[in-house]
This record gives sequence, structure tokens and C-alpha cells, in this order.
Amino acid sequence: MFWREAKNGPKGYPLLGVIPQLRANTLGFLDHVAKTYGDLVPMRMFMSTAYLLNHPKHIEHVLQTNYRNYRKTKMMDKFKPILGEGLFISEDELWTRQRKLVQPSFHRQRVEAMGGTMIDVIKDHVAMWDKLAVSGEEFSLSLDMSYLALEVALRTMFGNSLPREEANAISDALHVANEITAKRLWEMTRLGEILPTRENRAYNGAANTLDRIVSRIINERRKADLRQDDLLGVLIDARDADTDEAMSDKQLRDEVLTLLLSGHETTAVALSWAFLLLAQNPAALERMRDEADTVLAGRDPVAEDVRQLEYTKRVVQEVARLKPPIWWVARTAISDDNIAGETIKAGTTVLISQYLIHRNPSVWEDPERFDPDRFEPEQSVRRSKFAYLPFGAGPRVCVASAFATMEMQFLLAMMQRRFDVKITSDLEPELSNLITLRPKYDIMAKVSPRRRH
Ligand code: HEM
Repeated sequence: MFWREAKNGPKGYPLLGVIPQLRANTLGFLDHVAKTYGDLVPMRMFMSTAYLLNHPKHIEHVLQTNYRNYRKTKMMDKFKPILGEGLFISEDELWTRQRKLVQPSFHRQRVEAMGGTMIDVIKDHVAMWDKLAVSGEEFSLSLDMSYLALEVALRTMFGNSLPREEANAISDALHVANEITAKRLWEMTRLGEILPTRENRAYNGAANTLDRIVSRIINERRKADLRQDDLLGVLIDARDADTDEAMSDKQLRDEVLTLLLSGHETTAVALSWAFLLLAQNPAALERMRDEADTVLAGRDPVAEDVRQLEYTKRVVQEVARLKPPIWWVARTAISDDNIAGETIKAGTTVLISQYLIHRNPSVWEDPERFDPDRFEPEQSVRRSKFAYLPFGAGPRVCVASAFATMEMQFLLAMMQRRFDVKITSDLEPELSNLITLRPKYDIMAKVSPRRRH
């Protein structure tokens, strides 16, 4: 057996428990807890105890085997003003029904059908980088990837039907909503959210903007009875297999915003880390470029090429191991449960950290080393599925993992075959870890035409 159980966890402060340590240095503290106390660690937070799980077996138990006993935590309510009852937060029958309605839109064939739109957006982005390569100016890669990922999300969702000003308004509003939600996650009560502060006004303004634009688009589509081949069109057409019912306008609005928000920030974060990790690992970069040169042979890609970009996929997987954009998931137990001999009382929160399990040395050899070949099929089969969860696991696994992986494969292949990317900011940025695992400060870069050695 390679896991350790602990009866005792970190001490923490009177009353507050470990909250101050978590707030001061979330990742560092959790890393210390896992290393010191083992794979199932109780941590006191206020009057309750949360468990940190850091073993594939325990993770499998919560996310798969006994998943019906675990629901998303109350913290998720903080996303509700924007996401409503979308797939990320809904539970029980609503979630089951919606998952069945939304999931088929992300089946492999559907995703490949969206590949063309993705490639078009990336081609436009190559043209932008061509200009940057001429001017040689430094730019924020983090912002640039955020812009690109949102553009992919908007174009796959709405086709070409979204006017530029509205696309920009959505972009600004999602940004504001994200930043403020991240702060709100740490607030213990929701009282602060109703005060007439500048921040709350900005948040409400952003929520209204998102609601207004998305609702208008849905109304127009319904009224015009126009069949469009974008993701919104597919969602409008989706019917419940048992009742043949379609989604209500409100539910459609919630799912559209959920997909836009969950989709773009995560992908953007992974992409900026990818450029940084590739800059630090030139051998992997060269192998990836060789693959792009061979598979794409100087032409524009088509969606099917994604299957041949195998090494690029392994690069994406390794990036998501070391820098998982969603670095923790939490659940609350509905009834008493038992994990490895420890009683988990009803109402207890369990915390799973991708950041930690992806570095657990009993699963990963030399875990800090960047090595895409860990994801060669022979190596992957030897590992528990629950030791690698950038997209979560079990029934609530990310609906769009294939979509996100494909987007990252094309973006990296198309940019890296054409440009040399020089990271100009600090090579080891500190992590900011509120919702997604972002670097504390933007990753800055300069690009130039690729020089072949
Ligand atoms: C690198 C990119 C992405 C990462 C790392 C990621 C990660 C995750 C994770 C970890 C979960 C599970 C959360 C939990 O169990 O509590 C999740 C769920 C989800 N993701 Fe993603 N995601 C990514 C891209 C996307 C994209 C592009 C979309 C939409 C187009 C999307 C939509 C969703 C939705 C709707 C759920 C909720 C599924 C459910 O509960 O049934 N994600 N994602």
C-alpha cells in the first residue's frame, strides 16, 4: 500500500481553524498538509471539519463510486447570479436532464465539426501575431490567450451572428464577473454582496449585460425560427429523449453562460502555461514542431488533423498535469460515509486538489519534471484514472474536455510552427489560486518569425 492515513491534521487557530493559513498561501499550505499528514487529512475550518483527499482511491470513491452521496458545496452559490442553474452548479433531476441534453453537443463528431470554426479563429490570431512579430513589441500572453479562447467560445456558440460591440461587451462583463466572484469565494457571509459598493455595482452591471445580450440572441433565434449550425443552434434543437421537451429560454440562457464562462478562462490559463512550459523545455518544443511540420506540411489544418497531432496532445496533457487550470474541486457529504476507516459525517466537505494529486510522488515519478511521454498509452494504462483529473472525473466530468484539448492542440501547433515565442517575464511566476490556477502576474512575451536551426 502506498498511501498513508492520518488521524491528525494541522492545528490551525482558535475559532478560525486553518482558514488564515489557507488564505495566506493556499497551495503551499495544502501541499504542506498533504506531505505532513498523508492522504486523508482532517482540517478544521470554523466550527466544521473538511477533509483533504490525496489518494486516487479516495478520489474515486467520492467522484465515482459513491458520487450520489456528494454534492457541490454551498460555495457554488456564489456563481449563481451569472450561471443560474447551469450544468456546472445544478444538482439532482435538473442536472441529470440537462447533462443528457448538453452532452451530445460535445461528442467527438460534433467537436470535430466545430474544429473548422476553431481553426478559422486561430488563423485570424496568427495574422495578429504576424503583426506583433514585425513590431517586436512585448505583449501579455495571458490576456492574448484569454481573448483568443473567448473568441473561440463565442464563435462556436453564436457563429458569425454576434456583432463586434456585443462580443466586446460580453468579454468585459465575463472578466468583471470572474474577478469579483473570485474575491467573493473567500467571504464567509453573503452580506457584503448586497451593499451598494462600487464593486457590487460593477458586478450587477456585468450580470445584467450578460443576461441582456444572451437573452436577446435567444429571443431572436426563436422568433425568426432560424436554424443555425452553431452550438446555440444545437442546444436549441436538443430534445429530452423521454419527454421530447426542449430547454426553456431561462435554462438555455443559463447553459449558454455556463459554457462561455467555464470554457474560456480555463482554456486560456492552460494555454499561457503551455507557452511558458514549452519555452522552458526546448526538446519537447522541437518534437512538437516536427510533428506539426509533418502532419500539417505547411498547409492550413483541417479538423481531422487533430488525430495525428499526437505528441501535441501529450504536451497539452502534461501542461494540464503540472498546471491544472481548475486545481481543486469540493463536495459535501449528504449522509454519513466512511472513507478508509474514517467517518465522514453528513454535511462534511471533502476537498480534492488536482494540483496535489498530479504531483503525488507515489503515482508520478519525478513529478516536477515536464515529460509529455508520461501520457504514452503504455504508461497511462498503468495509472489509476483518478490520479489525473484536470477535467474532473466521474459523472460530473467536464463535458467539453475533447473540445478544449482540440483547441489547445491546434493553437499550439499553428503558433509554434510559425513563431519563436520568447517569454519576457519572470520564468517562475508565483501562482494566484482563487478560482483557476493563474500566474499572479500576466505572462509577458515577444514573438518573432520562427528561425529553423
Ligand atoms: C482546459 C480547459 C478546461 C478545464 C481544465 C476544465 C475543467 C473542468 C473540471 C475540473 C470540471 C469538473 C468540476 C467538478 O467536478 O466540480 C469541469 C466541468 C465542466 N466544464 Fe470544463 N474544463 C475546461 C474546458 C471547458 C470548456 C471549453 C467548456 C465548455 C465549452 C467546459 C464546460 C464545463 C461544464 C459545463 C462543466 C460541468 C459539468 C457537469 O457538472 O456536468 N469546460 N470542467
